[in-house]
Amino acid sequence: MNIVLMGCPGAGKGTQSAKLQDKYQLHHISTGDVLRKEIASESTLGKQIAQIIDQGNLVPDKLMISILEKIVSTTDKDIIFDGFPRTVAQAEALDGMMQRLGRNIDKVIMITLPESEVVGRISSRRQCRKCEKILQIGPDESEKVCPECGGELYTRPDDTPERVKHRLEVYHQDTLPVKNYYAASGKYAEVNGNQTPEQVFEDVCNVLEKVK
Ligand code: AP5
Ligand code: MG
Repeated sequence: MNIVLMGCPGAGKGTQSAKLQDKYQLHHISTGDVLRKEIASESTLGKQIAQIIDQGNLVPDKLMISILEKIVSTTDKDIIFDGFPRTVAQAEALDGMMQRLGRNIDKVIMITLPESEVVGRISSRRQCRKCEKILQIGPDESEKVCPECGGELYTRPDDTPERVKHRLEVYHQDTLPVKNYYAASGKYAEVNGNQTPEQVFEDVCNVLEKVK
């Protein structure tokens, strides 16, 4: 079962992907995490990517598609795509790529969230540099270490309120049209992301159980 998880910044794609990966033994590909790893490697490509991603803009389709194709072709496991496709051109490329590999996308789930919730959620997010775990910190907390692996917790440079607002604009302009692309294929479903992570997960699993 290959799944695409869509949703605006902070909708909970990464949080739900981690749960789905465990439950269904899927290979989780977060294109945001892939790009952040490239930046952390301090490669020339990473430096170019940092300038784009830190501003909240999208990495060009051609580059993103070639990066993704390499990852997809190295796994036999079913995949959960988190943060890809983000444009209609990427959705078309993904269909072509999967077809060439004799695979297909089984379900596309959009996690919905009111925009009024986005900035608050994202400003309390910390991510582990080592294991990539996503955490929500409380108003008085200042945790610096991942409770799971002891890795350093950090705040993403694109998580300032100004950048988040820009990411939302980019999402509306470039990514929302992908919804119509998938709605036409009958593979599209929506889940209310404005519930506890456990409730969201239950709803996501209910959608997926109908596919199996
Ligand atoms: P990416 O890393 O994908 O960022 P995003 O899409 O903006 O989404 P986020 O990761 O911010 O949110 P999320 O939905 O994963 O939420 P999370 O689970 O963390 O992309 C970053 C950048 O990379 C892009 O802007 C672009 O520059 C580039 N990029 C990536 N893919 C690309 C592509 N395909 N093409 C071109 N460029 C690309 O949750 C957020 C917070 O809320 C966490 O603190 C979490 O603990 C908390 N939370 C989660 N669920 C709940 C809940 N139900 N209730 C309360 N809190 C919750
Ligand atoms: Mg994410």
